Amino acid sequence: MSILDVALLLWSCPEDLAGGVPRNSRSPHMKHTESTPTLEAHRKGKEGSTGSPASPPEGTGPRRSGTPRLLDKVRSYRSAAQVRALGLYPYFRTISSAQDTEVIINGRKVLMLGSNSYLGLTNHPKIKEAAQAAVAKYGTGCAGSRFLNGTLDIHLELEQALARLVRKEAVLLYSTGFQVNLGVISALVGRGEYVIADKSDHASIVEGCLLSQGRFVRFAHQDMAALQNRLQSIEPDVGKLLVVDGVFSMEGDIIHLPELCRLAREHHAVIMVDDAHAIGVLGHAGAGTADSFGLTDDVHLIMGTFSKSLASLGGFIASDTATIDYLKHNSKPLIFSASMSPANAAAALASLNLMQHEPERIRRLWHNTERMKRGLLSLGFNLGASQTPILPVYVGDLVKTFKFCRRLEEEGVFVNPVVSPGVPPGQELLRLSLMATHTDAQIDFALDRLGTVGRELGLL
Ligand SMILES: Cc1ncc(COP(=O)(O)O)c(C=O)c1O
Repeated sequence: MSILDVALLLWSCPEDLAGGVPRNSRSPHMKHTESTPTLEAHRKGKEGSTGSPASPPEGTGPRRSGTPRLLDKVRSYRSAAQVRALGLYPYFRTISSAQDTEVIINGRKVLMLGSNSYLGLTNHPKIKEAAQAAVAKYGTGCAGSRFLNGTLDIHLELEQALARLVRKEAVLLYSTGFQVNLGVISALVGRGEYVIADKSDHASIVEGCLLSQGRFVRFAHQDMAALQNRLQSIEPDVGKLLVVDGVFSMEGDIIHLPELCRLAREHHAVIMVDDAHAIGVLGHAGAGTADSFGLTDDVHLIMGTFSKSLASLGGFIASDTATIDYLKHNSKPLIFSASMSPANAAAALASLNLMQHEPERIRRLWHNTERMKRGLLSLGFNLGASQTPILPVYVGDLVKTFKFCRRLEEEGVFVNPVVSPGVPPGQELLRLSLMATHTDAQIDFALDRLGTVGRELGLL
């Protein structure tokens, strides 16, 4: 079931599914064969029609004879087309310029407020030079996995630099952050063991948990009492991995790490923190969440990605030498997938150096965050519990969220809509994210447009 299927389904009958939808992930309660009303039917339903939908729900219509059953869901899939027909489709927008504070979409300059390039390095000349030099020296790809022919000296250099940054003994690179979560969780949590995750954890964590052979337990977002209950219900002597986002990718809040560490110690659980949105944002020189709390020794595994502050593509896991050695020989998404390309490794390494030598970038990111946050709050928007450069503007309605996004793009501002299952139904939001390279004038321009469109939609 796609994000739009779920969104439309929830829009029509939130009460049926509230609480039953695992966030950011497929739901075991839903199957493709379950009915997903068409948008037309949704509207009729909302207008009080009691008749049957005008067309059969997706996936349940008559099957064309001779077509393979597997493709029934593909042939009857209409949700995206319906949203496109309304002119509200907000995904896969095509950018024809570098990822920077301004981007070109359909030949127009648009202010970018939806990028994870927190330090604004994706178009930095030094990073581009480093990537170009790596291509000149090593070529364009590694043609194999780290395990066999795909380990380069720059991979090791990057691993050592990251280990120094997050103050762990060793680091292992993967080709994406998503693969880190798949590969680490599935390798560490075996049959009869447990993996425990916050309900707002990123989809890649959820998929890693589902891939593992262990039992998957979740607790309500940031609810330490609920976590304690879960831990108390598990046999004391079995292996337990506790996985959380350091900074939650949609809400922008920071994990309550001191309490989490206390509970983990009490119940002999191992902690893994996903720092995708914390590296380059929190901690000394951007070292991440555990560092910002002075709890690096309590967090056994620190995960990070290069697709955000570090202006590249790839991911890493940091831990002690024994854990990294185990992963090197047991983590299938590492062993059976090609290694990070030379250009990606060199760009990440150059970004790391720049981040450490230009600490004013992180200060500027926080200045921008505070300016935008103050402005949004004084306009009257609800930003939930955000504590970071991820600023969720809560809208609480699916169609209004899509409209808000579309109108802002028309006004020259790019933001991302987040709907169920990315967030629980009723908590739809626009996700704004700041970069260190935004100017005060750009932020003020965005605030002006957000205010105009927010009033137009009756949100203010
Ligand atoms: C919290 C979190 N973890 C992991 C990932 C996956 O990282 P990557 O883009 O490197 O695959 C993301 C990316 O969106 C993320 O937000």
